[in-house]
This record gives sequence, structure tokens and C-alpha cells, in this order.
Amino acid sequence: MTALIPITRGELAGWLDRLEGAEANWVRQTGFEARAGQICFMPEPDGSLARVVCGVGDEYSLWSLGGLSRDLPPGEYQLEADWEDPATPLLALGLRLGAYRFDRYVDHQESTFTLVVPEPHGEEIDRLVVATELVRDLVTTPAEHMGPLELAQATTAVAEAGQAQVRVVEGEALLEQNFPAVHVVGRAAAVAPRLIEMDWGEEDHPLVALIGKGVCFDTGGLDLKNAAGMGLMKKDMGGAAHVLGLAQLVMAAELPVRLKVLIPAVENSVAGNAYRPGDVIATRKGLSVEIGNTDAEGRLVMSDALVLACENEPDIVIDFATLTGAARVAMGPDVPPFFCNDEALAEDLMLASEAASDPLWRLPLYAPYRDMLKSPIADLNNIGNTGMGGCITAALFLEHFVEPSTPWIHVDTYAWNASDRPGRPKGGEALGLRAMFELLRARYS
Ligand code: BES
Ligand code: MN
Ligand code: ZN
Repeated sequence: MTALIPITRGELAGWLDRLEGAEANWVRQTGFEARAGQICFMPEPDGSLARVVCGVGDEYSLWSLGGLSRDLPPGEYQLEADWEDPATPLLALGLRLGAYRFDRYVDHQESTFTLVVPEPHGEEIDRLVVATELVRDLVTTPAEHMGPLELAQATTAVAEAGQAQVRVVEGEALLEQNFPAVHVVGRAAAVAPRLIEMDWGEEDHPLVALIGKGVCFDTGGLDLKNAAGMGLMKKDMGGAAHVLGLAQLVMAAELPVRLKVLIPAVENSVAGNAYRPGDVIATRKGLSVEIGNTDAEGRLVMSDALVLACENEPDIVIDFATLTGAARVAMGPDVPPFFCNDEALAEDLMLASEAASDPLWRLPLYAPYRDMLKSPIADLNNIGNTGMGGCITAALFLEHFVEPSTPWIHVDTYAWNASDRPGRPKGGEALGLRAMFELLRARYS
């Protein structure tokens, strides 16, 4: 097993002083300065690889060793660092996450990088990596292979590992069982819309409801997106991927909660039977909604699921959704905004976000903006009338469908890395997943 030695610029001089003269000389001769991503291979006297010194720049962060696995020869490695220091498990996590590849359609040689991590960190990091990879895989998989049917199958796969129950309400049955908004958004697609429901845990534990937007492809509907806007819309089921990853984490950790995972899974497509701008649609809540824009479909399918969640008297409702472009404009791709109707809970989530090195930032459910959603002919419109504050008006729309007394968190996530960075390959990404798991763990264990 080869040792990996993470070193900051500040630690370098002291560390060199503690080496034997010849070794210190070797490290200096190679020009090693502990720059982020810089590495120095150190040989045994017989020429075999003894250790790899890994520069991390000025300070340790989750992604300090994110690119490292790409630069190492195949083999087994361990981090030579203080495992009592919270930076060490963080480095290990980033290193593992950086070894991920999406290999469904290309034959990468099998990944031969192995990091051996001591317990209890090993199991914990393993679970976080597996859940993150699940999210990345689901989001990156194209809509042709990740439609409503495959999303239901993916839910079943997660359920089987934790012995959870899955129920799917599909097609016309959505109307019979009063999920009209899920049906109306998905009815124009070749693959029938559905509501996927997964239940786990013991009856006497508090209920945690997790709801994920499962728009498997978002053309915009009749208010069709342009090519640039539609290009990435396979990722519009990113919210669903996040709640599946979160459920997997909760089940693996056996948190003393009951889970209800709800995924409205649809394609927002164009056909003769597509819902139209100007239509007034029904919702499970009984509120009528005028369609200002068929591209604001996520909030519609989420509304029926939020109502079903609240009917079950949950202790908390958490939703993830790739809901608005406006959230990206406001916050950029890496800091998903969240909205919360409970001050203490919002503070707890900020602390959990910090603890998990998983950025999230709170935006307000600013009540006066509710007026922007007014409709002259229905209870509300599905878009704001100004185009400003788009992620806030979207959250305020959702709030109409949540019981005011139920603690609720809504995360408007991008679910995507737009470019390759160390540890974060271009493609689907879990954002806020570890923070939310940390919140649940702190709240329930
Ligand atoms: N899925 C999109 C939001 C989105 C777009 C997320 C780009 C990430 C990147 C959502 O369904 C949508 O189209 N929202 C519209 C709402 C508008 C019509 C009020 C938007 O944000 O433009
Ligand atoms: Mn849309
Ligand atoms: Zn969408």
C-alpha cells in the first residue's frame, strides 16, 4: 500500500526538516512547492514507489485532493495524516469523489484506484460516495435511458437495498387518485406520467417526507425552450436523484425515522394533447392554477406531491427541485438557495451545510411577492407577473401547497457541474445532499 502525504505550503518547510537529507533533497530537486494539485513521487532505495507527497496549496478543503486519483498509477493507497483532524476525512471524501467516472457508454478501463480508509471513517465515506455517485449517474444518464419508467426502476433499486416499499400511480390512475397536476404536465409525452412513492421505516418513528422533481426531460412544453435552454434538460430530474440519494443515506445509517419519498416523474413534452398557456388546471389541493407558462412545469408536479406529503402529517417536508433558471442567476451553479418556513430549522441547515462542506444559502419566502402570482380567473398563476425574483416566486408558489404548521425546506438546485474541476467532473452533481443528511442526522439521532 502506498502512502499519500497531503501537505500545505505552510507545512512544507517543517516537514522537509524532519526528512532524511537525501529524501528532503529529492523533494526539493523536483521543484515541489505544495501547490494545489502538485505531486512528488518518492522512491524506496530499490526504486519502488514509497510515498506520494500531495500539495494542497494554502489550506485543506474538500476538493484539495479531488484531482489526485487521475495522476496516480493503479494501486492501493492510504492517507498518511491525522485521522483525529476533521480535515483528513474531508480530504479522503474529495479524493474518492474525484475518482468517479460516468462509464455507461464508454469502456474506460476499470477504475484501479483504491483508497483504504480506517473505520469508522471508511464506512461513512463509503456511503457518502455511493449516494453521490447515484445522484451523478441518474442525472447524467440521458432522458432516453432515464425516463419516468427508468426513474421508477431506479427507485425500486434503492428500495430493495433498504427493504422499502414502492408504489407507482401511473397514467389515467393519476386522475382517479387525484394527482391532476402531475397528469396534465406529463400527458403529452410518449411515456406515461407517474407518481413514484417509496416508504421505509418503523410505524412509530417520526415521518420525514422527501419530494424530488422528476421531470425527466423539459422541452418547456408549448412554450418551447430554445436549443441553448433545452440542451441540458435531461438533468431536470435532478431533484428526484437527490432525494433518492438522501433516502439511501438515511436507510444505510438506519436513522430512527420513517421515510416517505415522493417523485412526480414526467416528461414535459409537446403534442396535440399538451396542456396550453392560458389553461386553468386543477391541483390536488383544490386550488385552480392558470398556466402563464408551460415551462414552469416543475412547481405544478411538485404541488400535488407536497399536498400528498402533508396529508400524512410529516414531522418535516424536504424537497429538492431543479426549479428555476433564476436560482442560477442569483446564486451561480454551486450554491443552491434554499427556502424554509421555520427559523430554527433554517439555522440548523446552515450549520449542517457548514459542517458537511456542502454549500447552501437561504433566500426568503418574501410574502409580499405572493401578489406576483395573482390570476384574474384562477386561484393563482404558475408564473410571476414581472419575471423578477423568479426563484422566490417559484418557492412562494410551492408554499401554497404546504401546511403552514409543517416545517418545510425547499432546495432549488442546479444538480450539475458545468465544467471539469478537480473532484467534480462535468455532469450531474449532488449539491446539498450531504448537508441535508447532516441535518437529519443531527435532528433524529
Ligand atoms: N427546469 C427549468 C429550470 C431550470 C432551467 C433549471 C435551467 C436549471 C437550469 C424549469 O422548469 C423552468 O423552465 N423554469 C422556468 C420558469 C419560468 C418559465 C417562469 C425558468 O426558470 O426559466
Ligand atoms: Mn420548465
Ligand atoms: Zn423544469
